[in-house]
Amino acid sequence: MGHTWTTLNYLRSPQEYIGENLETFKSEMLEFLRIPSISTSPDHLEEVQEAASWLKGMIEQSGLQAEIHQTPGHPIVLGEWREAGNNAPTVLVYGHYDVQPPEPLELWNSPPFEPEIRNGRLYGRGSADDKGQLYLHLKAAEAFLKGPGNLPVNLILLIEGEEEVGSPNLLPFVESQKDRLSCDVTLISDTSMIAPGLPSILCSLRGLAYFDIEVRGPSSDLHSGVCGGPVVNPALALAQILASLQNSEGQIAIDHFYDDIVEWPAQQVEALKTLPFDKGDFEESIGRELCGGEQQYTVLERLWTRPTVEVNGLNSGYTGEGAKTVLPSVAQAKVSFRLVSDQTPERIEVLFRQHVEQVAPKGVEVTIRHLHGGMPWRSQLNEKLKSAVDSALTKVFDKESVIAGEGGSIPIVNVLEQVLESPVLLLGFSYPGCNLHAPNEWFPEENIENGIRTIAHLYQEFSSVNKLR
Ligand code: BES
Ligand code: ZN
Repeated sequence: MGHTWTTLNYLRSPQEYIGENLETFKSEMLEFLRIPSISTSPDHLEEVQEAASWLKGMIEQSGLQAEIHQTPGHPIVLGEWREAGNNAPTVLVYGHYDVQPPEPLELWNSPPFEPEIRNGRLYGRGSADDKGQLYLHLKAAEAFLKGPGNLPVNLILLIEGEEEVGSPNLLPFVESQKDRLSCDVTLISDTSMIAPGLPSILCSLRGLAYFDIEVRGPSSDLHSGVCGGPVVNPALALAQILASLQNSEGQIAIDHFYDDIVEWPAQQVEALKTLPFDKGDFEESIGRELCGGEQQYTVLERLWTRPTVEVNGLNSGYTGEGAKTVLPSVAQAKVSFRLVSDQTPERIEVLFRQHVEQVAPKGVEVTIRHLHGGMPWRSQLNEKLKSAVDSALTKVFDKESVIAGEGGSIPIVNVLEQVLESPVLLLGFSYPGCNLHAPNEWFPEENIENGIRTIAHLYQEFSSVNKLR
């Protein structure tokens, strides 16, 4: 009898295990967020490695096998548990353990790598994008492996350290490990819910084409009085080029830019109107009116269904205190385009270069470099997958889920679908105001529990659908 009791006591259900271990989960998550795994900066190579090792240890502790694959850049961490057998579905989870630089530091209310929970928000760099969200998947797996002792699905974790720099080493890895990564569905939590308490399934991501543009004038900075006039000013030339990219109606003024766009079906556009989106709240949260972009489209349409051009940064001449009369030698900008289906970064690069060639003034030399990019994405979920995720979400949030789009980009999503020939399911738990890439990034504390529980329910749902594809 005593033996049976002990066994029963030991074999908790995944949901029970989650309830019992929430505090441990939270403190481990904080530990992970303390590692400054900033992928863009060569000063943080060691910390990026440290985050990869931490993950490997945590995956093993959760009951999966783990490996670190070194790449010419940052390592890829792989986790595996394949004991559910050939008849069970195989789920691939993708996430990234690298984060954006935290600067400007003075705008953070608590240091970016000293995460803390205040008023129901877990503040820290990477809490939402994506270390915190990725971590939910480890704990959902652990809830099965440490609760009942096995998972109802075969599970592969694919975690990279270069998402924020365009995933340069992930594509070759996925191609070379195609068979090993073969799966019925890929799950990614690197996006947000449209509103607190409202579970959302994503149907789209925008693509990206990112460029550096440099305008070179005279061989060195010059006195703007001695030389100004006959010498073309590179900063002004750059400003002219940039200003020519958009017209006064908010349209992108590059020939053929819109040619490849396939508009969303009217019924899906109509459905956007039923989503709880409040323009005024959004304006208040960013502190400015929403009057950019193509005026004939609603704000959600402009965010999710339409392309944009953005200037991400500008650099030229004298910007210090007071006045210095100088004619700069160089001006530089980071320009990107958000793309929608079926635009491609390759075609947009050709059109952008042609446009710049046409509008660049004489007397300067313009160089454009394509830094990185990714394809826009539309979801290909079948009904079985949709209803599995819907019922997992409803169990936790007690509300039917809505279909939402997303303005951001995750370039690897298309690659995974194409190479692995299986659909991707985007299931994010952060909120629109979570300050991704910005000071005071946060993740909702309630969604640590909700997220882990949803993922655990989802595995159960998957296992009862006999064929996912
Ligand atoms: N998690 C984001 C993508 C994202 C942002 C999805 C907001 C949904 C809402 C991801 O880490 C990211 O920042 N992607 C970059 C592109 C990448 C190639 C640097 C982006 O969207 O700018
Ligand atoms: Zn990001």
